[in-house]
Amino acid sequence: MANLQLSERVPAAAEDGVWLECIETGETYAPFESIRYTSDVDGLLEVRYADYPGFDAFSGRGVWRYADALPFEEGVSVPEGDTPLHYVPRLESDIGVNSLRIKHEGMNPTGSFKDRGMTVGVQAARRLGVERLVCASTGNTSAALAAYGARAGMETLVLLPEGKVAAGKVAQASLHGARILEVDGNFDDCLDIVRELAERGEAYLLNSLNPFRLEGQKTIGFEILERFYEDNGRFPDRIVLPVGNAGNTAALYKAFRELVAAGAIDRSEMPTLTGVQADGAAPMVEAIENDRDSVQRWTDVETRATAIRIGNPVNAPKALPGIRETGGTAVAVSDEAITDAQQELAENGIGVEPASAASVAGLRKLRHQGVIDADEDVVCLTTGHLLKDPDAAVAAGNDPEPVPNDADAVLDHVV
Ligand code: F0G
Repeated sequence: MANLQLSERVPAAAEDGVWLECIETGETYAPFESIRYTSDVDGLLEVRYADYPGFDAFSGRGVWRYADALPFEEGVSVPEGDTPLHYVPRLESDIGVNSLRIKHEGMNPTGSFKDRGMTVGVQAARRLGVERLVCASTGNTSAALAAYGARAGMETLVLLPEGKVAAGKVAQASLHGARILEVDGNFDDCLDIVRELAERGEAYLLNSLNPFRLEGQKTIGFEILERFYEDNGRFPDRIVLPVGNAGNTAALYKAFRELVAAGAIDRSEMPTLTGVQADGAAPMVEAIENDRDSVQRWTDVETRATAIRIGNPVNAPKALPGIRETGGTAVAVSDEAITDAQQELAENGIGVEPASAASVAGLRKLRHQGVIDADEDVVCLTTGHLLKDPDAAVAAGNDPEPVPNDADAVLDHVV
């Protein structure tokens, strides 16, 4: 299994205390000398640092509050982060946990957590001097890359699985000026193509395979821990999140490891990472249930939660240890349970897209099974905004009722 230990040794490859390290072999690389997404043995890379800051080092708001834990002082910013950690007392008592908070990443500028990754990732693109950006996407990555690429004045290509991307996301990529290339295949096929283009040097890849993107996303973990501690004087026991490519799972685990390395939290205080997938796209769940060290690609995937319609989670080698070493698990939920959870969140005033609701559906299922205890403090991550997928929202919500153009008639209709 991958070695995710953060060593104290600073390699010769480091630039200003920052380097890239292969999680399989420990081989190190200079971060900005050349463009690289994986190591010589095709292992995943992590950004590593000579020093890991504790909470005292953080100041300001949003992603760049955590600049001391990032490879740059500032990024291409809209700005992003600083998302709400909602209280949901009714849902909390209905599901039956000690406390439940919803970290709503749909409140980022383009409506998903991807913005956190892009503010750092597009800054890396700038630093490397590239001109053309590319990603494969189930939608949200393309919306974020289009916006951040536009802000940086760079050409942006996005490859989308034809007919499987929610309307709001295509609209964003389109208006922000990305070239939208629709592929007759699924997300994993799009990513295969994008990796090939990147390897040929044709464009800079900004999927979560890119280690700089996950640096931005790890700030979700810092924000949750800081805010929860401020409110409760302790850290949450568990974070439940939807899993597609497993980038967030990997990024949250990295945030926790870095805080442990800084002496800011104890290993035992790392929240338990709990991943949720849809029944029709659950290769991570399969790997966890069968105690496997790697994921087997699912070639046929299907779910209403199109954002996580993914059969080959590229960050599994980082995420599986994260789930296991925090004592977590992974669970699959039905599309019906996802829609139920989307409605429940909406009843509490929180509008999310289907993939996001998977976290709450997973919490409910694991609580019901007794895997999650009644005394736990739980944070569910909701990754994207309701307006991302208007068709899913309309299908799950109330139908409009035609009424006459007359006040009395309207009143008669509603009573
Ligand atoms: N939730 C939403 C709304 C997403 O858009 C994604 C991924 C995930 C969860 C899964 O996150 O990959 O970190 O496990 N969307 C990518 C995209 C694949 O192209 O927008 P992960």
